[in-house]
Amino acid sequence: MKNPLLPYPVRIDDIKVETEDKSLKTFKFVFLNPEDEEKFSYRAGQFGELSIAGKGEIPIGIASSPTEKGFVKFTVFKAGLVTSHLHAMNVGDVMGIRGPLGNWYPWDILEGKNIVIIGGGFAFTTLRSSIVYMLHPDNRSKFKDINVIYGARTPGMLLYSDELKAWEARDDINMHITVDSANNDPNWKYNVGFVPTITEKKAPPADKDTYAIVCGPPIMIKFTQPVLDKLGYAHDHIIMSLENRMKCGIGMCGRCNIGKEFVCKDGPVFTLDQLNKMPREY
Ligand SMILES: Cc1cc2nc3c(=O)[nH]c(=O)nc-3n(C[C@H](O)[C@H](O)[C@H](O)COP(=O)(O)OP(=O)(O)OC[C@H]3O[C@@H](n4cnc5c(N)ncnc54)[C@H](O)[C@@H]3O)c2cc1C
Ligand code: FES
Repeated sequence: MKNPLLPYPVRIDDIKVETEDKSLKTFKFVFLNPEDEEKFSYRAGQFGELSIAGKGEIPIGIASSPTEKGFVKFTVFKAGLVTSHLHAMNVGDVMGIRGPLGNWYPWDILEGKNIVIIGGGFAFTTLRSSIVYMLHPDNRSKFKDINVIYGARTPGMLLYSDELKAWEARDDINMHITVDSANNDPNWKYNVGFVPTITEKKAPPADKDTYAIVCGPPIMIKFTQPVLDKLGYAHDHIIMSLENRMKCGIGMCGRCNIGKEFVCKDGPVFTLDQLNKMPREY
């Protein structure tokens, strides 16, 4: 059996600067040993540990979809030590990925349902994975209406801008893009307003067939939750993803737990119903 702490060697195949302040980059990795790609079979919502020799290891959500083959993508915000080293790396450099880790969005429950994705800031990464997965020709018929509410601070801080345009042009997904401020850009044609405000205006009505997947900074979650309550969403129909501090990613080190739950292993995906039963430390 493979040692779960041993990373797969990967080569950086492409780097895309996502935002105008260059603080977010998407790294496309290919596995040095093709058989490792098969071993890294993942579901949308999972994460991996990216490792740079001598620098450290960090948990990052998988931004590519299981339907995209031959590579795996992660979008990384330049936050501190390891992420700064990663941002300084180049195409062709070799590093490690461990995983896939954690649980995933409950696709068995979500099939046949209306989905509303609510995302803010760079937490949109695993939501990109989910959207690409649901829109794939093999999967689109498994879901009913798909709504996406996605906000960033300014137009220049939106991730995946080309894909947002492509999704906007489709008639089988409802996109509601918003920014806190359009910086007086006369060409801005989407919403202006915080994610909770746009959620109140655009989210589909709550019913037993509609599930909300929410991922964003704590402040967005704090104000979105009461809006979903007001709209009548049951707490077991609200699915969230947590970003606790982590180290091992496999339930060994005890760094990430909330009560008896290990966010790295039992999560990071939990329903609001499950979170309500946990100690109030998240
Ligand atoms: C399940 C999961 C998925 C994540 N997905 C993404 C992603 O898709 N893209 C992305 O850019 N980041 C993601 N993160 C956050 C990412 O792990 C941290 O930003 C990263 O570990 C910081 O490493 P560093 O060495 O550069 O920073 P450090 O030097 O360790 O710290 C810099 C700053 O980042 C904060 N930080 C450190 N670790 C974490 C952490 N695990 N969670 C939140 N804040 C942290 C610190 O408090 C500090 O303010 C995710 C975290 C988790 C747990
Ligand atoms: S990160 Fe080690 S137990 Fe979760």
